Amino acid sequence: MAHALAVHALEKRYGSVEALKGVDLAVEEGELVGLLGPNGAGKSTLVKIAVGLVRATRGRAEVVGARAGSRAARAELGYLAELFRFPGWYTADEVLALHQRLTHSTGGAAERKRLLERVALADASDRRVDGMSKGMQQRLGIAQALIGSPRVLVLDEPTSALDPAGRRVVRVLLEELRSHGASVLLNSHLLSEIELVCDRVAILRAGEVVAAGSPAELSRPRGVELETDEGVRTVEGATREDAARLVAEAVAAGRRVYGVRVLTSTLEDTYLEAVGDEVS
Ligand SMILES: Nc1ncnc2c1ncn2[C@@H]1O[C@H](COP(=O)(O)OP(=O)(O)O)[C@@H](O)[C@H]1O
Ligand SMILES: [Mg+2]
Repeated sequence: MAHALAVHALEKRYGSVEALKGVDLAVEEGELVGLLGPNGAGKSTLVKIAVGLVRATRGRAEVVGARAGSRAARAELGYLAELFRFPGWYTADEVLALHQRLTHSTGGAAERKRLLERVALADASDRRVDGMSKGMQQRLGIAQALIGSPRVLVLDEPTSALDPAGRRVVRVLLEELRSHGASVLLNSHLLSEIELVCDRVAILRAGEVVAAGSPAELSRPRGVELETDEGVRTVEGATREDAARLVAEAVAAGRRVYGVRVLTSTLEDTYLEAVGDEVS
């Protein structure tokens, strides 16, 4: 079966800038993948190639088996651009109606109402974009990407302007979409919501994937810390599975055990290690 979205050995050069240096990445059907990395890592370039807005220098990009940018590929896609701007004088409902026309959606008013509800903008249907907070506009942008119920959703920094409550709305929405089988590629430099919701993440740095795996795989165990009457000792390489045995051994050896702690590096630790000291 074709991947929902896949890029193979993807390279992109803008003049002397090598934005992508041979990236392989796939999003399977029903999978939610997070593409992480600091500003300038190449995340937007990758998704712009995948949605057909930018031409690759070398390599391939496909959406549900169709060449990126082809009519067949575009028909499967919903896309939220990183720096989008809707006309300020349009109401939320008019923005969605405009995009329904652009995508030939036949969903009508019922689809617009349903989408505004899903992004918690049901009460803002007649509100003009000018009168919306950046967070509301971003949620409207996500609703726009969902028009026509695309199989593959590409969201470039969908939570960058959102406060924690808005991020939660998006996280719940993403979980709901996944439960309905949608495939999602999500760009972000914010780790919190990605960690909670993605099946897999790839960390991009200077045009290369430097780490990839499930959030759990990237949150590696770092040992077990044992506090006894002899002091604090870290058993490198030990995991949660070893904790009970280590306590029992210490007790058997006549030690008093005051505490035991399983140490893990978070996805954030892994991210910072992978991208080095680059600040996004
Ligand atoms: N249209 C463009 N022309 C020239 N350079 C570009 C263009 N778009 C992006 N770049 C450069 O490509 C690199 C990757 O950018 P981008 O894909 O936007 O990264 P990210 O989305 O991870 O912040 C950066 O060095 C950026 O300056
Ligand atoms: Mg970007």
